[in-house]
Amino acid sequence: MKTIIEPFKVKVVEPIKMTSRDEREGYLIEAAYNLFLLKAENVIIDLLTDSGTAAMSAEQWSALMRGDESYAGSKSFYRFEEVVRDIFGFKQVIPMHQGRAAERILFSVMCAKGSIVPNNTHFDTTRANVEYLGAEAVDLPIPEFYQPAVNHPFKGNMDAEALEHLIKRVGSRRIPLVMLTVTNNSGGGQPVSMANIRAVEAICSRYGIPLYLDACRFAENAYFIKLREEGYADKSVKEIAREMFAYADGCTMSAKKDGLANIGGFLCTNDDQLAQQEKDLLILTEGFPTYGGLAGRDLEAIAVGLGEVLHEDYLQYRFASIRYLGEHIANAGVPIVQPPGGHAIYIDARAMLSHIPALQYPGQALAVELYREAGIRSCEIGSVMHAEKDAESGEEIPAAMDLVRLAIPHRAYTQSHIDYVIEAILKVHERRELIAGYRIISQPKFLRHFTACFATVDALSNADTPRSSHGEQVLLQH
Ligand SMILES: Cc1ncc(COP(=O)(O)O)c(C=O)c1O
Repeated sequence: MKTIIEPFKVKVVEPIKMTSRDEREGYLIEAAYNLFLLKAENVIIDLLTDSGTAAMSAEQWSALMRGDESYAGSKSFYRFEEVVRDIFGFKQVIPMHQGRAAERILFSVMCAKGSIVPNNTHFDTTRANVEYLGAEAVDLPIPEFYQPAVNHPFKGNMDAEALEHLIKRVGSRRIPLVMLTVTNNSGGGQPVSMANIRAVEAICSRYGIPLYLDACRFAENAYFIKLREEGYADKSVKEIAREMFAYADGCTMSAKKDGLANIGGFLCTNDDQLAQQEKDLLILTEGFPTYGGLAGRDLEAIAVGLGEVLHEDYLQYRFASIRYLGEHIANAGVPIVQPPGGHAIYIDARAMLSHIPALQYPGQALAVELYREAGIRSCEIGSVMHAEKDAESGEEIPAAMDLVRLAIPHRAYTQSHIDYVIEAILKVHERRELIAGYRIISQPKFLRHFTACFATVDALSNADTPRSSHGEQVLLQH
């Protein structure tokens, strides 16, 4: 059969509330044009993230009932630990309530002020956790990464030469660890090849620097290797995943992605001493090392999810569905990051809305417009999320790209939902020249995209000043 179907059927349904364009206009003003501040019930198709939004399987729901909620030494922990060890292969498995908790504890133990952490590309929380400690997060992707239209089978690769150059320039003592994010979320959900993992590992071991994988989407990365890298077509996704982790000294994991769970994560290492320090911190802020901020039932759901995500019929359907979305909009002229990623399609908003300057946030403008048009929530990954400040002038420097990510939650939407998304994007694309840019009127110090308030550049009259969800007007910050 040529048609690739969802390899599951629906047992429980969750109604979607349909909204009118006028209603959505009101919700946008209430949320100060920040889609993170919308109420989820007012979203028709939620492509904000694939994180924690998976539909759990019947097996996962059954496993919840097995959850052992003992404070210490719960059976659920030992089942979870066994599954994680079997796939990831690390000696020490430390549960966490989500990925960023693993990042915070790992960096707190390994980094100090002045440390440098290279990564193919840091995800926003990863960068923020490095910088919070006074360390520097350095992105070293290959040059193709910054060229959305360029096709490359492993566009998530790290520039290994640049890594070696950096180590030689700053000295290995300032680099407590190197990270590889698989897949590379910040610019297209693009995979890292096994050859690249090997090359980075060889450099790390030459200089005595530990290598960690940010493993959130390890199964998608492994499936890309199977499809695209010579010598892997006949290996199972699990075998490929094991090989990926065999080159690393540890990993951080958000089980909200390829754990197919709604919450959870873990930190792994082969270093017992380091693990002890990490567990000490864990007890301080997350919980006892056999639950790490999670309920026993969450550990059970993750253990089952980690097995299910490795099923190849599941990965085949997931990639086909995401490719379908990407190809349909690209064929109609919408610029996207090529090739389609493993968990999302990324629209090149800077190219699509070329009349909007980068510091009027074309990604934000496009994301708002998709919501206004059809109630679709997406995520800006561009100058709102990643802009930097010029050290001398203090002026904002735009991010390298302005993208809008349409992340597909695992197992949650069907083909007709995807067709609805395609129709909406094409409508917005047709009237793209009429879309205005945005400016930020208030923002927090860290991770501003989550809570910043916006107004359109041509709409700063009193009537258009955004209100918070409590109705009061949001004050301009200077
Ligand atoms: C690549 C990557 N690393 C880390 C994280 C953080 O994980 P969490 O949201 O579970 O804290 C994310 C979340 O989206 C991610 O995509």
